[in-house]
Amino acid sequence: MKYERLFDGRRLPVVGLGTWTVGGGLSKDYSRDKQSIDIIKRALEIGYTHIDTAEMYGSGHTEELVGKAIAGFNRKDLFITSKVWSSNLRYKDVLRACCNSMERMKIDYMDLYLIHWPNPGIPMKDTFLALNELIEKKHAKYVGVSNFSVEQMSEAANLSTTPLVTNQVEYNVSYREPERNGVLEYCQQHNTLLTAYKPLGRGASLSNPLIIRIAERYGVTPAQVAINWLVRQPKVIAIPMSLNEKHLKDNLQAADLEISKEDLDSLDNLKE
Ligand SMILES: NC(=O)c1ccc[n+]([C@@H]2O[C@H](COP(=O)([O-])OP(=O)(O)OC[C@H]3O[C@@H](n4cnc5c(N)ncnc54)[C@H](OP(=O)(O)O)[C@@H]3O)[C@@H](O)[C@H]2O)c1
Repeated sequence: MKYERLFDGRRLPVVGLGTWTVGGGLSKDYSRDKQSIDIIKRALEIGYTHIDTAEMYGSGHTEELVGKAIAGFNRKDLFITSKVWSSNLRYKDVLRACCNSMERMKIDYMDLYLIHWPNPGIPMKDTFLALNELIEKKHAKYVGVSNFSVEQMSEAANLSTTPLVTNQVEYNVSYREPERNGVLEYCQQHNTLLTAYKPLGRGASLSNPLIIRIAERYGVTPAQVAINWLVRQPKVIAIPMSLNEKHLKDNLQAADLEISKEDLDSLDNLKE
């Protein structure tokens, strides 16, 4: 597995596990609890260590399932990321939201705590007062942001007492907004990870004929080509979601594939 280093030298694998829709979308869904817990456990057994979740996912139920899945594993081996929702960005709300998320996951610290979406209606200073306190009290090891523009990242970086570890944004081979809006370049220049969400475009990237041709040439899957294209770029990590064991394995192995630079570069002209 390939790793990216955080500012303090800690290594983070370039492929982590997304959890959106596990345990529900906007509301709680209890119908697949056992399957969801089992597949997250399986993911950890086969080598995933980074789990990405959020208080908003399944209205908190996703975090409850993550908590059940990680219960038998050594906490120190795991890297748990969660996110505070954009309506909870006032000082007291952030502290309460983080506490609630930790309670749902039965953990006593968050590895990485992110602002899920910016909220122009709440001063960022207020939010970072709380995030800085979470760091100081060791409730969170690292903080970061999600869906932030370059200007918002720069404001956040100035307010944070510790370097921002990531900006989590939508990025995949057929969605290149972070290249156009400068977020990718800003991350690479400021030693900040770009965590690519929807790294498979929710499956949409996988039917592209060029991706399929490259996958066939190397005897791999289109999903693996799409993930490899992302994580071969400096400072880019990906968090694909899957409830399918074969897909989980494929996605994890995707980082180590030896696809030629020429083939990866040929994807740069892909139509979005
Ligand atoms: N910060 C934000 O605002 C934000 C927004 C969206 C998402 N996220 C995070 O990013 C994660 C990933 O994004 P996403 O879940 O929206 O989309 P995604 O990972 O691009 O796509 C997930 C879909 O791809 C399928 N899939 C996964 N691996 C596959 C493979 N190897 N071959 C074929 N199909 C495969 C999955 O189905 P199977 O289960 O059948 O494999 C699932 O339907 C989320 O789960 C969430 O943690 C963050």
